[in-house]
Amino acid sequence: MPNKINKLAVLTSGGDSPGMNAALRAVVRTANYFGLDIFGIRRGYSGMVDDDIFQMDSQSVANIIQRGGTVLKSARCKEFYTAEGRQKAYANLQKHGIDGLIVIGGDGSFTGGMKLQQEFGLPVIGLPGTIDKDLYGTDYTIGFDTACNTALDAIDKIRDTADAHDRLFIVEVMGRHAGYIALHSGIAAGAENILIPEASTNIEDVVDALSEKEKRKKLVNIIVVAEGDAFGGANEVAKIIRERLPNFDTKVSILGHIQRGGSPSCQDRLIASRMGYHAVEALLNDTSGVMVGIINNQIVYTPLEIAIREKHTVDEGWLRMVKILAS
Ligand code: ADP
Ligand code: F6P
Repeated sequence: MPNKINKLAVLTSGGDSPGMNAALRAVVRTANYFGLDIFGIRRGYSGMVDDDIFQMDSQSVANIIQRGGTVLKSARCKEFYTAEGRQKAYANLQKHGIDGLIVIGGDGSFTGGMKLQQEFGLPVIGLPGTIDKDLYGTDYTIGFDTACNTALDAIDKIRDTADAHDRLFIVEVMGRHAGYIALHSGIAAGAENILIPEASTNIEDVVDALSEKEKRKKLVNIIVVAEGDAFGGANEVAKIIRERLPNFDTKVSILGHIQRGGSPSCQDRLIASRMGYHAVEALLNDTSGVMVGIINNQIVYTPLEIAIREKHTVDEGWLRMVKILAS
């Protein structure tokens, strides 16, 4: 295996996600196995700009595979948006002799990494660390499965109390501009309706479906709304439904940041470990400027630009199924 890279750095950036630690562990241990020096950068690009860079070894990632959050910490860094900020950051990498970078984060973090590669020729690899699953070139992102399970657990509990009181609950889940957490957790929770930005929803259809259920005395209903839906979230949807269907006892529950925390699921630890291992291997094989993803259980490399720009589409069949299963 050619070994052009000698000193590798890794950072976690943007919104944290469960499994980032498992990915970090895989990167550090693989780099160590191949005899590379490995550096951790604290707080994403902020640590790069501020030279918060430290050498890691196998022991530094012991006992973290099961922990949520990120031991490297994460941040959003305004200075890195400027050419001067990136110059300062790169100078710090040079100071440590770092000649390769692995970025664990979402599309914003990948954009930052891409700029480093374009402007300074630094080989960069991205690992998809986001609960939103909004990156192209992978079936799953690190943290998505855990976030869905957290949302599912919450919705199941909400259904218990909804059932006891014959209530309609509008549950808002995260996802930024993407509706995948809503879609997956909503289907698994048996939601009566799911509102996501990838599909246009006619609110009259939602109202009609609820009125029809009211006639059948089916008063317990869960509607899962993605935070990025066209109506502006659960409170806005509830406002419309309360006006149109005053007989329903309508409650709103916004799940929020609990979806970002917690011990990563088996699937998230597994994909994080595989992606982390392959990221180092790819760099050593002279592959860079790509995101490591998994499609049909196979490791796939997608140019960062495409991973950021292209969008997955939501299968219409899934939404049709939701309606049929909720009838
Ligand atoms: P995420 O990676 O979760 O999408 P952000 O969009 O907040 O998170 O991006 C994380 C960080 O990546 C930003 O705070 C910034 O430092 C860097 N970044 C994002 N977009 C750019 C960009 N266009 N140019 C340079 N750096 C960027
Ligand atoms: O990108 C992950 C995410 O949790 C989104 O789902 C959400 O919209 C956003 O980050 C929240 O960001 P913050 O933690 O800055 O409130």
